[in-house]
Amino acid sequence: MIDAGRLDELPDRSMRTLEHEGQRLGVVRWGDEVFALRSRCPHQGGPLCLGTVGPQIIAQAGVGTMELDADSPVVVCPWHGWEFDPRTGRAVVGRGRSGPPYRVQTFRALVRDGRILVDLDG
Ligand code: FES
Repeated sequence: MIDAGRLDELPDRSMRTLEHEGQRLGVVRWGDEVFALRSRCPHQGGPLCLGTVGPQIIAQAGVGTMELDADSPVVVCPWHGWEFDPRTGRAVVGRGRSGPPYRVQTFRALVRDGRILVDLDG
């Protein structure tokens, strides 16, 4: 486990990056939950976690409608705007030509005694 800092120093609905043994990670706080992911975009290797985090945009009511899903965070890559769910690492849109959806590596993250811990083995 690595220490990713104090939870109360990471504002709700935000992301910070950190480096550990040459690997850059992003840590996302979404309410009381925290998520960790590798900061390398599977599209073209962009610095994914230097992008933004916000609610997922959905269109449940059909074409021409738009809502924000406050329960579903999404990380947006700063290079070409691809979006990833930090809970699963899966791309919100975008998949290989015939393969499964693109996915960024995620790590188990938790809060203990007010500190964010990331398990790089999990
Ligand atoms: S490198 Fe991330 S969207 Fe292209």
